[in-house]
Amino acid sequence: MQITDQVVLVTGGGRGIGKAIALRAAAASPRVVIVSDRDLAAAEDVAANCSSPALAVACDVCAPHELERLTAQIRDQHGSIDVVFSNAGVTAKGGLETSPEEWENLWKVNVLSHVELARLTIPGMAEKGQGAFIVTASAAGVLTEIGSLSYSVTKHASVSVAEWLSVHYRRQGVQLHCLCPAGVVTEFLDMDDPVHQFLHVSALTAEQVADTTLQAIADNRFLILPHPEVLEFFRFKTEDYDRWLHNFSRVQQRLAKVASKQQQE
Ligand SMILES: NC(=O)c1ccc[n+]([C@@H]2O[C@H](COP(=O)([O-])OP(=O)(O)OC[C@H]3O[C@@H](n4cnc5c(N)ncnc54)[C@H](O)[C@@H]3O)[C@@H](O)[C@H]2O)c1
Repeated sequence: MQITDQVVLVTGGGRGIGKAIALRAAAASPRVVIVSDRDLAAAEDVAANCSSPALAVACDVCAPHELERLTAQIRDQHGSIDVVFSNAGVTAKGGLETSPEEWENLWKVNVLSHVELARLTIPGMAEKGQGAFIVTASAAGVLTEIGSLSYSVTKHASVSVAEWLSVHYRRQGVQLHCLCPAGVVTEFLDMDDPVHQFLHVSALTAEQVADTTLQAIADNRFLILPHPEVLEFFRFKTEDYDRWLHNFSRVQQRLAKVASKQQQE
């Protein structure tokens, strides 16, 4: 599918990967790009820099009524919603000690927001026989995120949402995509955290990730892996799960040692 002449929506478009996707999509001559973020000022700044018609709309993806208002507004103003980048996402550090509030927040942003936005947009695409819905998951959704149980679990769930939608809607002309990057240089990476320092070593820019994503949409490829090593690790995981677990636990131990050394300094 081409972006040209389409109505494009990007959530979490105020900065980072969402911003890069909005700017790259704008360069592909869409009808309009709707840059949505809970941070309206950031979204306005991105919309102002788009090279095609663009509009900034505030929306917290955790709130179903805000998603309903956002999608109704786009349909009223532009008639349809053709390409959706369901991109907003958050993380939280920690394992079993993660609080119920943190779990709830990650479930809402990283999982339920995709389901809700899909509910509000995919039936319209299916009716038209054309559309694309892109879930930003993470390499953590096909591998794991050392140091964050809630991120790993919710990103696996977001991959599952994208898979399920693909199985159920691809024959109705709706393209589903699942974006699974490893480290990307954005404010998301906390450079005080040894795990994120480790990810930063092989990190890509948000623009590189956006380019790979737009190419995958043009090629209609479901799984988008901008980092080739993620595909290698993913293959290794399915070939020899126990060895994969063993290797990742060695990396975890190494990073835990770095973290404890940093705390002592
Ligand atoms: N940066 C990475 O290394 C990396 C790696 C893999 C996956 N990802 C995923 O990519 C996506 C974007 O990450 P990023 O690196 O650009 O992060 P970022 O923190 O730089 O940007 C996230 C944007 O989403 C917005 N946002 C957060 N919660 C929101 C909410 N409830 N409603 C609306 N907007 C909200 C923020 O305001 C911000 O503008 C996320 O889903 C993240 O999990 C990031």
